[in-house]
Amino acid sequence: MENRSLGQGQVSVPVVGLGTWRRLEAAAAAGRHRELIQAAIAAGIWLIDTSPMYGAAERLISDALNSHRGQVFIADKVWTPSAEGGTAQLSRAVDWYGGRVDLMQIHNLVAWQTHLPMLEAARERGLVGLIGATHYSPGAFGELAELMRTGRIDTVQVPYNPAHREVERTILPLADDLGVGVLLMRPLGEGQLMRRPPSPAQLAPLRPFGITTWAQALLKWGLSDPRVHVSLTATAQPGRLTENAAGGSPPWFGAEERAYVVRLAATR
Ligand SMILES: NC(=O)c1ccc[n+]([C@@H]2O[C@H](COP(=O)([O-])OP(=O)(O)OC[C@H]3O[C@@H](n4cnc5c(N)ncnc54)[C@H](OP(=O)(O)O)[C@@H]3O)[C@@H](O)[C@H]2O)c1
Repeated sequence: MENRSLGQGQVSVPVVGLGTWRRLEAAAAAGRHRELIQAAIAAGIWLIDTSPMYGAAERLISDALNSHRGQVFIADKVWTPSAEGGTAQLSRAVDWYGGRVDLMQIHNLVAWQTHLPMLEAARERGLVGLIGATHYSPGAFGELAELMRTGRIDTVQVPYNPAHREVERTILPLADDLGVGVLLMRPLGEGQLMRRPPSPAQLAPLRPFGITTWAQALLKWGLSDPRVHVSLTATAQPGRLTENAAGGSPPWFGAEERAYVVRLAATR
């Protein structure tokens, strides 16, 4: 798995990260959340993204990590309109993750003007490593760009896959100009793009790039854009982590292969 730098070279992280929206709770319901987190680390997926919005996910990660906290990079979020709520969410996360959150993001830009100074103060105290912001909707990308231009955030988290390419218009060029790290969400379209995978014959032209499955092709598609740093994919199935991790190794697709994946995705 390749590593890329975030925060103007401050930290190096694996290009495939583990998302935890809905899927970690699904793994826990099957009694497999510890196995999932351990399998992710073993596969080289040692960046984990979570949020207070994802039910019990933050607590489940903390429970599963136990003595392995030092092996992972935690990307958590604040998600509340209230200043007190944001402070309480950070304090809970700091407790869960051994005194420090590696990246704290403002989820869906909720009350960012309120939370940003609080996170900056926490960074001064060593409780937070990097600061970021996320949004899933192209309608909010104007506001996200405004925040990026303040120079006060290190990363953004946005959706990007062959069926949703709105970030190519403003967010990716701006991130590249400003040196802002990009974590992409929904690389498999929340699973929608996986419903009717292409046949092995259709994937054959991608085999020289190490691709054996459609999930790997979609992950490599996003990561082959050099303005992207991390692709966050979620699964409840530990057996899928080695497969997904393989989408994060070079050789990267060129323009021709990326266009081919877009054509394949259009018929899913
Ligand atoms: N900040 C925000 O606004 C925001 C919004 C959305 C997401 N996110 C973050 O981004 C992460 C990733 O996004 P996502 O979870 O929506 O979507 P995703 O990774 O695009 O899709 C996840 C779905 O793909 C399936 N899947 C995973 N690996 C697979 C494989 N190898 N083969 C077949 N199916 C596979 C999973 O099902 P199985 O469990 O059955 O494998 C799951 O249903 C989230 O978990 C979250 O951390 C943030």
